[in-house]
Amino acid sequence: MTEYATILTETRGRVGWITLNRPEALNALNSQVCADVVAAATAFDRDPVIGAIVVTGSERAFAAGADIKEMESKSSLDMIMGDHFGGWAEFAGVRTPVIAAVSGYALGGGCELAMMCDIILAADTAKFGQPEINLAVIPGMGGTQRLIRAVGYYKAAELVLTGRLMGAEEAERAGLVSRVVPAADLLDEAGKVADTIASKSLPSVFAAKAALDAAMETTLAEGLRFEKQAFAGLFDTQDQKEGMAAFREKRAPSFENR
Ligand code: CAA
Repeated sequence: MTEYATILTETRGRVGWITLNRPEALNALNSQVCADVVAAATAFDRDPVIGAIVVTGSERAFAAGADIKEMESKSSLDMIMGDHFGGWAEFAGVRTPVIAAVSGYALGGGCELAMMCDIILAADTAKFGQPEINLAVIPGMGGTQRLIRAVGYYKAAELVLTGRLMGAEEAERAGLVSRVVPAADLLDEAGKVADTIASKSLPSVFAAKAALDAAMETTLAEGLRFEKQAFAGLFDTQDQKEGMAAFREKRAPSFENR
């Protein structure tokens, strides 16, 4: 397994785990974290054994944002020419479902990283927010766009314009969080969700994620066209025959990811 400077990685069964590991900076997302997370996630994505990925941080912080100290002295030209957060698009584009297991702070880029994932499980200690306005900037890793799609305009506008943080329960009520669990159970629950996804037929999982992504990115008409094609395409897989035969024969299916 590759060693990374700012994250820990592990494979448990068919699940790839990525743990952000900059405790001295509450897992602030600097360029090295971005490079490491992207490298680890794309390697898991290419590995045919892996059927789901979990991204997590520490008890105290999932991630407290983009690294303010790294950005402080940059100019506008530096940000544009260096495409400062550009690498994260690769992470958001992996085909394998990603579960964010969030404990403690998920602020700014940390909240945005969680929103690049497909499922957000939150410990009851989690705190979400986009406090960039306090630094005289705005969210830069997708926060103004993805937060609106998750919680609606008015909730997103309040959070982005005031920088207020919201707790796990409020985040779940608002639709940002898939489920809140006791902090002590967070990693076990994330592992169970990931194992469940990884037990399905991978071609159908990839298709489901791509169709869900289409819903976030396109019009209803385009999304429905995409879904129709993706649904039809799965009827060429052996796993579709196996899944439906197993239903008819009242037994558990045995998928081979083809
Ligand atoms: N960048 C760099 N370092 C950070 C950081 C960040 N986003 N967040 C925390 N740290 C560092 C602190 O500087 C501190 O380091 P030192 O001990 O060397 O001073 C260490 O982590 C511990 O932090 P605190 O002492 O501040 O811990 P706390 O418990 O008192 O407060 C906190 C916790 C409320 C999360 C506070 O650290 C905080 O407000 N952090 C910044 C949150 C923020 O503004 N995030 C948005 C960043 S901009 C962004 O993300 C842009 C984007 O859209 C991509």
